[in-house]
Amino acid sequence: MKLTYFGHSCFLVESGGHRLLFDPFITPNPLAKDVDISKIEADAILLSHGHVDHVADAVVLAKQTRATVVCNWEVSEWLSRQGLSNIAPMNHGGAKTFPFGRVKMTSAIHSSTLPDGTPGGNPGGFVVELPEGTFYYSGDTALTMDMKLIAGEFAIRFAVLPIGDNFTMGASDAVRAAGFVDAKVVVGVHYNTFPPIEIVKEDALGTFSKAGLALLLPDIGETVDV
Ligand code: NI
Ligand code: MN
Repeated sequence: MKLTYFGHSCFLVESGGHRLLFDPFITPNPLAKDVDISKIEADAILLSHGHVDHVADAVVLAKQTRATVVCNWEVSEWLSRQGLSNIAPMNHGGAKTFPFGRVKMTSAIHSSTLPDGTPGGNPGGFVVELPEGTFYYSGDTALTMDMKLIAGEFAIRFAVLPIGDNFTMGASDAVRAAGFVDAKVVVGVHYNTFPPIEIVKEDALGTFSKAGLALLLPDIGETVDV
């Protein structure tokens, strides 16, 4: 499986000829200024919650790629009011099988107001089962005991977790989250985009290596094997 990082919490997973894009926030992110969104292709766009730093480019990219947008009910209603029709609304605990694999929406402890102030329902995350393997993207969240349910049901090949602290888990709670879901490889996201979530990368890498876990921090635009 290949993962390309587009900055903040936006990443693309490619597997078996399918491309899944998560939480597109590219054009408003100065750190991602070299990413050309007109070149992004995706079969599905998964949105963890309604905050602008996760949905900013969702409508433009959904129209450009014709991808199916997977998100919660409230976010789906907001997207359909902006002219999108290819939406697969879900809610926590529900799973759905798509042409690329199966998605289960997991819970997150966070908030989810949409950019125009519309209530965005409850925030979530996703377990994505693909023929090549299963991964977990927590979305923006605190550490929560609910993550232990995931290890009981799935063999997680890698997890994508926020490490920027302040609005979400920081690195030490992300290490505990990796333990809860039993993932040995973590891709860190949601850090360094804004001053409140600035971190020292070396500290985060050290926190993970002390716990015997691999933390991947790809550069923006970089593709890594996962
Ligand atoms: Ni958020
Ligand atoms: Mn966020």
